[in-house]
Amino acid sequence: MTRNVRAVAWSATALAVCNLSALFVGCRGGTTGLQAPVPGRVAEGKETFRFDTFGDETFWTDTLRMHEVIETAVDPTTALSVGLKVDADALPPAVVQGIQNGSISLTSPATTLALLKLNAVVGLKGTVETINGKDRLTRVGITCALCHSTVNNSFAKGIGQRRDGWPNRDLNPGAIIALSAALTAGQKTVYNSWGPGKYDPRYNFDGKNGPQVIPPAYGLAGIHRITATGDGDQVEYWNRYVGVTQMHGHGSFSDSRTRVSVQNPPDMISSKLAALQAYQLSIEAPAPTAGSFDPIAAGRGKEVFDGPGKCATCHAAPLFTDANQRLHSPAEVVSEPEPNGVPSYASRSATKMYRTSPLKGIWQHPPYFHNGIAPTLVAVVDRYNTRKGLNLTARQKADLVQYLKSL
Ligand code: HEC
Ligand code: HEC
Repeated sequence: MTRNVRAVAWSATALAVCNLSALFVGCRGGTTGLQAPVPGRVAEGKETFRFDTFGDETFWTDTLRMHEVIETAVDPTTALSVGLKVDADALPPAVVQGIQNGSISLTSPATTLALLKLNAVVGLKGTVETINGKDRLTRVGITCALCHSTVNNSFAKGIGQRRDGWPNRDLNPGAIIALSAALTAGQKTVYNSWGPGKYDPRYNFDGKNGPQVIPPAYGLAGIHRITATGDGDQVEYWNRYVGVTQMHGHGSFSDSRTRVSVQNPPDMISSKLAALQAYQLSIEAPAPTAGSFDPIAAGRGKEVFDGPGKCATCHAAPLFTDANQRLHSPAEVVSEPEPNGVPSYASRSATKMYRTSPLKGIWQHPPYFHNGIAPTLVAVVDRYNTRKGLNLTARQKADLVQYLKSL
């Protein structure tokens, strides 16, 4: 009963928000995508996570002129091929039908505009206006969901229900940015070198090229070292950093340790950080699907993890990390040296150290380690076995992999 009342109130709020946003960007079709309401802050943070650009259109539109690229060259097929995702719940029935029967073309940039108008492209926020009777994309910006959401492919590959917090490992942010005509040839070469699922969030400050695997934004409750190098004590640290210095939203960020200092007034971020953090902390790591691992072997693998594998000395339960106690030097991790002569990522960070990664939901996001050097969990275990001289038998290694898949 209470739930129904709240659901009605939530729909009403959503409709109000929808009507308001329709003035600027069009509106999400239907209400099928609305989920059960969650208390205040978390719901507010979810909106921010999915739809807030913090005014970063001044960068993506005015500086990079991405609206021109999208309008002329990015049809939905191209968009999906660089890993962009479409929120099926934002599509009205007529559009779903049109895609199904082929009357809506997936090879026309006009369809991309129609999707942006429906607010259906995950992580991209566009303003579509009718100019001289024709729809034109006049502003475009990005949100957190671009890198940290994907969809469940329920409708087609790349089109489905949102999965907030799941890293988008299909997304090729470098290739997308490199489409901008405002960049030098040298910059384009660097951006094009990153590949899917990777992004270098320090390149624009130190000019070094060492892309990071986009990490999950789930399973972080209780962990007080944020990012691979533990630069912040709270998720909020990264949110401010990325919002201001990478998304190029409006606000300020400074950290004397890295000498990064950016002021981009007016502040459109600070007031949203608490709710945004509350939302992320509410997202749990996804449980493994039934049948995806062998429970008996996983049981034996736990003994290896706690015993001869020595994994639990750092990946201590229940969070599977010792992050709240200590960080680790580059010499202790098995992911360094970096591939291709890239400088140590830790050396570019505030702490110069690495945080032990939490392992809940690890099955979901290969490749592994900050630089993605291990393509599979088998490769992770082999790497630890060799580098740490563990002398595990083939059976112990296989069991350990099953245990990791079960977390
Ligand atoms: C362009 C892609 C991109 C965008 C946009 C982006 N992030 Fe990230 N995010 C990354 C990368 C890459 C890292 C890894 C940084 C590191 O470890 O040094 C990261 C790290 C994180 C982490 C830390 C995870 C951990 O294990 O400690 C969280 C949480 C997070 N992002 C949430 C967000 C939120 C919220 C936003 C919007 C304000 C956002 N991100 C925007 C790429 C992105
Ligand atoms: C000395 C502490 C330490 C020990 C011992 C240790 N790890 Fe790690 N582990 C880390 C650190 C630090 C990282 C992050 C390194 C990076 O991102 O490059 C990590 C990362 C990982 C990752 C990648 C997580 C991700 O999100 O990509 C996996 C999987 C993993 N460890 C499994 C294991 C297993 C299995 C063992 C035992 C065989 C083990 N670890 C032993 C500290 C340790």
